Parts: sequence; structure tokens; C-alpha cells
Amino acid sequence: MFKHSYASDPTLGDRVFDLLEQTFPGVGQARDNGVRFGATWESVSTPYVHREGSRVLAHVGLMAMPLEVAGRPAVVGGVHGVATDPSARRRGLFRGLIEELLADTAERFPTLMLTTLHREYFEPFGFRVVPESIFRTRVSPRVGMPTARSLDLADPTDRALMHRLLAARAPVSSVLGVGAEKACWAFYEYRSPIRYLPELDLAVIAVRRERTLALYDVVGSTIPPLERILAGLGESVDQVVAYFSPDRLAAEFAAEPHDLEGGPESLEPGERDFVFMVRGPFAAAGRPLMLPRPARC
Ligand SMILES: CC(C)(COP(=O)(O)OP(=O)(O)OC[C@H]1O[C@@H](n2cnc3c(N)ncnc32)[C@H](O)[C@@H]1OP(=O)(O)O)[C@@H](O)C(=O)NCCC(=O)NCCS
Repeated sequence: MFKHSYASDPTLGDRVFDLLEQTFPGVGQARDNGVRFGATWESVSTPYVHREGSRVLAHVGLMAMPLEVAGRPAVVGGVHGVATDPSARRRGLFRGLIEELLADTAERFPTLMLTTLHREYFEPFGFRVVPESIFRTRVSPRVGMPTARSLDLADPTDRALMHRLLAARAPVSSVLGVGAEKACWAFYEYRSPIRYLPELDLAVIAVRRERTLALYDVVGSTIPPLERILAGLGESVDQVVAYFSPDRLAAEFAAEPHDLEGGPESLEPGERDFVFMVRGPFAAAGRPLMLPRPARC
């Protein structure tokens, strides 16, 4: 039995992150994001670990990720934090953990997903790459006054506002969107620039690069048309690139293949080269899509 629980072993989180930090430097800060936001990794992740004494030599994590996939709600098993200590690799530790996870989840999660730099580690276990796209549209520069204000999640009032929006969020896409989930969101987005549009009761995560606005997340109980989001943000840009399927944004976007292997519009440094993989049924296969960033745990 490799399956453990953070609830029954309060020291396990630190020991798992000792392993993860040496494999993915900086991941401890992302864990801290969840603590600050009040939605911790340990509250949602089930750890499969191989231990030697008090040390964790190998880890595979699992969390339930609420998605909308091809127009239907679906809870998918998200596999994350896959690592074996360098001194213990190629001895079958990862195999033991992932095989137990696959057996455990066969009924609960018909579909599993992950993002990885190394598809070859997961293909032998039935995962397949789902090609991703980014979505581009030309827009007219704004002239009006922006209504948006920056959210500061260190401030309890802004943090409560963000919790409220996430709890009631509509998935940003009906092709592939994320539902009401907080821990993975905080892991990724706690330090992102977040703007709040009061007239739409909406939080937007977007980064301007020269005349292009990269749009990563839109959090609200309904997804308004792009025009209204841009009016609230007041950004003077010529084009918008959405890093999620923009079917709810009521604008004409063109999909461009995006394998995340570099390119001018690639995601932030550190996210490049990650591919999206699924195992089991995936109704959105074949459609232009991208797994939204706050689900890429
Ligand atoms: C990926 C990783 C967890 C594998 O751990 P491991 O305990 O050494 O893996 P195992 O010995 O159990 O190997 C199981 C199977 O995984 C695949 N695999 C593991 N390492 C591999 C490698 N370097 N190249 C190709 N396939 C590999 C093989 O199919 C292997 O079966 P085989 O040994 O019969 O060929 C480890 O290399 C690691 O921590 N890498 C750095 C972090 C990482 O890349 N994580 C992946 C998510 S981004």
C-alpha cells in the first residue's frame, strides 16, 4: 500500500515537498501560495509515496479536478507532483505508485489527466497527448476609462472576494473549462496579476505584452463577452490571445496549434514544453482546446 493521507500524517507534507523541491525548484513557493490563500495542496491531494525511513523517495499525487468537458460537467483525476529521488530512479518506484493509483481510481475517475515535460514516462501507462491550441482575435484599441482595480490577495477583503468568485465560477469554456476549484488555482495564480471588474463582478488574469493581451483566466458566475471584459480592463491592445477555449467569449477567435514547445506566444517561462495528457474517455478530443492554466497542477 503506497496510498497515504495528509490528514492522518501531519508531517508528510513537508517530507513530500523536500522531494518535490529538489525535482521542481520553486514548487515550495507555490505550496505556500495555497497556505496564504487558505486552500492548501494537502487539503486536496492524495499522496502515493514510497518511503525509506522518514524520507520520501518517490511520490505521485492525485486530486479531483472539476471540469466542463464538451458541454458536460466531469470530475477528472488530476495526477501531479510525479517525482523519484535521483538516487533511487529506474528501480521501479514510480511504476509501483502509478500502478496502485491506476487500480484505485479505475472506478472513481474513468478519466485521468496530467501535464508533463516527458510524455514518454506516461505513455507506457496508457496516457496519450491531447494537442493544444491558443486562440487569437484582433480587437479595437479602447478609449474609455477602465473600471478594473487590482486585487491584493494578501488583503483579507480581496481574498474573501476571490474565494466567493471561485466558489461560484462558471467554467471559462464549455469545450474544456475548470469549475469551482481553489487549491490548484491558488497554487498557480496567487501571485498572478488579478484585476476585478465591479460592474461584471468578475476577476480577470491577463498580461499585456506590447500590443497583445494574453488572457489566462476569467472568474465569475457568468462569462461575459470579450468586448465587455476589454472595456472594463481598458487595455489599449490590437489583439487578444486566450490560453483557453474562448467559446464563451462571444468573439471570433482563430485557433493556432500550440504544443507549448517555445514560440513567441508560449506560456510563462517554466511552463514551456509541458504537454497535456489524458487517460480514458475524453469527449473534447479532436476539438481545438487548451487545458486552462489553473488546472495545470
Ligand atoms: C519520471 C520519474 C518519476 C520516473 O521515476 P522512476 O522511479 O525512476 O521510474 P521507474 O523506475 O518506476 O520506471 C517506470 C517506467 O517509467 C518509464 N520511465 C521511467 N524513467 C524513464 C526515462 N528516463 N525515460 C523513459 N522512460 C522512463 C519507463 O516506462 C519505466 O519502465 P521500465 O523501467 O520498465 O522501462 C523520475 O525520472 C523523475 O523524478 N524525473 C524527474 C521529474 C519528472 O520528470 N517528472 C515527470 C512529470 S513532469
